[in-house]
Amino acid sequence: MPIDTWFPLAIYYEDVQDSIEHKMSLLSAIFQLEEAVQERRNFPEMAWTGDLHGVHNIHQNPQFSWVVGQVEKHVVIYLKALGIDLAKIKPYIQRAWPVISRHQQEVGMHSHNTAHVSAVYYVAVPLSGSDEAGCLAFVDDARMNEVSPGLGSENTDVMANWTPFNQEQALYAPVEGRLMVFPAKQRHGVTLNHTEAPRVSLSFDIVLTAAVGVSGAYEFLTPPIQLWRPFSDRAEE
Ligand SMILES: [Fe+2]
Repeated sequence: MPIDTWFPLAIYYEDVQDSIEHKMSLLSAIFQLEEAVQERRNFPEMAWTGDLHGVHNIHQNPQFSWVVGQVEKHVVIYLKALGIDLAKIKPYIQRAWPVISRHQQEVGMHSHNTAHVSAVYYVAVPLSGSDEAGCLAFVDDARMNEVSPGLGSENTDVMANWTPFNQEQALYAPVEGRLMVFPAKQRHGVTLNHTEAPRVSLSFDIVLTAAVGVSGAYEFLTPPIQLWRPFSDRAEE
């Protein structure tokens, strides 16, 4: 009784070479950035996320140049695997920020609505490889096999058992030195850090535009930013 599965979500991961060598300098830079922020802008049970605290430009900070290079390299591999012609697009890191998840902290479900591709790099993970420090959880919003909408809801008990065809979530245990790449629109969150030590990661949002000189795709791919024109100040008066 064969049953085929189609339309897979592509989640990329790679354990980055030389990650150990860069761990301490990255950690020190991240904790300095966190310390420099006075005001806490989210709930105590939520991880400290740089993007909510004005720390969203680490891609322009030379202390993070090694990891930025790794993100560029692996995102290109991911885009090629998706079948994209790299000569026709120009990728940009649009924003990048640290996330520090301490004991019993998590990151709620969300998607990165202003980007196309997202990446996360795990700088420090207590009990690396286990789910103790909090998993990256992807949610299946497409629910291709939910033949009656709502059938898989937590408010019903109609589902007798979980099979590969009705999974609501895919969980990835964090691994120190690992880089993950996924579609930015894919809803995700991070489960609780049950350990006493902080789990420290870096998030990257990447935007794809058309490459200069590649026309004809602008309805589907943002035109090169060189073609944009900001409103004049006059228009705002
Ligand atoms: Fe995220």
